[in-house]
Amino acid sequence: MFTDSQLLEKVNIFISHLTYGKQPIGLYDPIQYVMSLGGKRIRPVLLMMAYNLYRDDVDCILAQAAGIEIYHNFTLLHDDLMDNADLRRGKPTVHSKWSENTAILSGDAMMLVAYRLMTDKGRRYVPSVMSAFSQAALEVCEGQQYDMDFETRMNVSEYEYLEMIRLKTSVLLAASLKIGALLADAPTHDANSLYDFGVNLGMAFQLRDDLLDVYGDSKVFGKKIGGDILCNKKTYLLIQALHNSDPAQLKELMNWINAKDFNPQEKIKAVTALYDALDVRSSCEERISHYSQLAEVNLDMVKVPKEKKQPLLDEMNKLMFREV
Ligand code: IPE
Ligand code: IPE
Ligand code: MG
Ligand code: MG
Ligand code: MG
Repeated sequence: MFTDSQLLEKVNIFISHLTYGKQPIGLYDPIQYVMSLGGKRIRPVLLMMAYNLYRDDVDCILAQAAGIEIYHNFTLLHDDLMDNADLRRGKPTVHSKWSENTAILSGDAMMLVAYRLMTDKGRRYVPSVMSAFSQAALEVCEGQQYDMDFETRMNVSEYEYLEMIRLKTSVLLAASLKIGALLADAPTHDANSLYDFGVNLGMAFQLRDDLLDVYGDSKVFGKKIGGDILCNKKTYLLIQALHNSDPAQLKELMNWINAKDFNPQEKIKAVTALYDALDVRSSCEERISHYSQLAEVNLDMVKVPKEKKQPLLDEMNKLMFREV
């Protein structure tokens, strides 16, 4: 069995050797750029960890691992455009370094490169892998649409938020694990339990992302702090704040949400102060640990020896408390 850092190294080496195409450079340079900025590479590592529960010849699924990572990076190009974010992994985002149209088209090309890599394994695996992959990819679009719709809605329930993050974030982590299992010819029951583990891990992962968007350190997190506050994103923190505010706090919060002309740093500071006063951070942390407990139960259902599953559990615990 391989450790997570051994798998990460394999993924990084494989990705560093990938070429996407030469001409026109306006299409391919941004792809090379974003793929060279690293990131945690958590999806390909999870895919390989799931495969490695059953088989040791992990090198033969590196194409699929890279495919899922390229797909993820494509979603980031479009997401940063939609979220008006100019910093990612501590560097300018593609749309701010090049142009909005570049983020759209290089993003499209990345999705297609991802599809090509995903099918690069014995024909036998193509239908099941592509079905899991396409399903997740379409659900990501659904989640992203809800995320945007919610920016202008004030009555988003906690349930709606949780369903939105399941779609935009969790299903891709879940599909990564499931695809790893499928490629290893794992029993269907195990592949599904690994998927469920990924869903709950993904919920904790996105809740942590929301939390770091307010409380993270920009230098470590690599994104600008307060981006969600500026977009009026209905994050777990904001939904809890709206729910728990007294009338005066609610009035202040609503004033910031409805403000048209404002100083961005002032808005971030004021909303963060309300979050602090209402201690929404704690309820977010409780939710994170709730989902990690559910994930643990899902992993128990996977019928391989406990010691083999320990690295997946360790990975989840690392992600729950991540700063990056
Ligand atoms: C960012 O994903 C988008 C979310 C789903 C929160 P990651 O946090 O995995 O980003 P990188 O790839 O490590 O930069
Ligand atoms: C991530 O949501 C969802 C996808 C990229 C599909 P966010 O918008 O919260 O991700 P970050 O914070 O920009 O990485
Ligand atoms: Mg974003
Ligand atoms: Mg977004
Ligand atoms: Mg975020």
